[in-house]
Amino acid sequence: MRKTAVAVAFGAAAGTYEDDAHLQRLVAIRLFRRISALLSAAPPLPGPPHILEIGCGTGFLTRSLRQYRQDAELLVTDLSAPMVAQCRRHLGDAPGTTFLVMDGEQPCVRPPRAGFDLVCASLALQWFGDPAGALAAWAELLRPGGHLAFATLAAGSLAEWRAAHTALGLGAGVPDYPTAERLAMLWPSRGHGHIQIEPISCVYPDGHAFLSGLRRIGAHLAVPDRRPLSPGALRRVLRQVSRPAGFAVTYQVAYGWFQKDDLLA
Ligand SMILES: C[S@@+](CC[C@H](N)C(=O)[O-])C[C@H]1O[C@@H](n2cnc3c(N)ncnc32)[C@H](O)[C@@H]1O
Repeated sequence: MRKTAVAVAFGAAAGTYEDDAHLQRLVAIRLFRRISALLSAAPPLPGPPHILEIGCGTGFLTRSLRQYRQDAELLVTDLSAPMVAQCRRHLGDAPGTTFLVMDGEQPCVRPPRAGFDLVCASLALQWFGDPAGALAAWAELLRPGGHLAFATLAAGSLAEWRAAHTALGLGAGVPDYPTAERLAMLWPSRGHGHIQIEPISCVYPDGHAFLSGLRRIGAHLAVPDRRPLSPGALRRVLRQVSRPAGFAVTYQVAYGWFQKDDLLA
């Protein structure tokens, strides 16, 4: 099953993830900046904020959230048990932090009495089969006036890798990432949301380094209906992307934030 394969791939990479997750580290910082701006602009809460993180990985975003609000109650989750364990190791003894292995598409958590103040996910949503269903489930867990915040990949990501395949008459195993317009259609009802796209370029020494980097972070699974390339076809793709200045890959990172209607406002 696809979900098991995703969990196994990321689990196997939990120990090497942070050495190669340059994009993920950067995006977590950018998403955290948006979250902190969001929370600082909101009216002060009567108590500590309750935050649910989905797809925590090794904890890039988690550590920023923990440092930002030491009084926050953090529920930190991921589909992969080794990722959750690695995240817990990185955070050390952090009071107010609970870790849970959980499928973010079917969040089986009991929200605090009023609901979570924030549900967030950095670069996890692109692995989901039903992102609209997941966002609706997350919104259910929010208190009125609470926020969702996520980063995911949008159309145009990995365009250079895809173009190299197309030029050779081959199909790349990368998903058809949604456009900003498609993402904006995923917002749950009873609230309003925004999507912002930021292109980020990463340069790898060559195609081999790009592929081995994906493997070391566990993000190497091809889309389910794509047959793997033969070794000869893969060699041709790697030659196709080979440049003296290295292989530059663009990621179109979509940041989404949503506020649930506050019935009392
Ligand atoms: C690219 S990593 C990002 C991890 C971390 N948020 C970061 O920014 O470094 C994607 C993470 O999403 C998790 N993931 C994938 N599908 C998931 C699901 N259905 N529910 C929860 N987590 C999931 C993976 O196990 C992995 O840890």
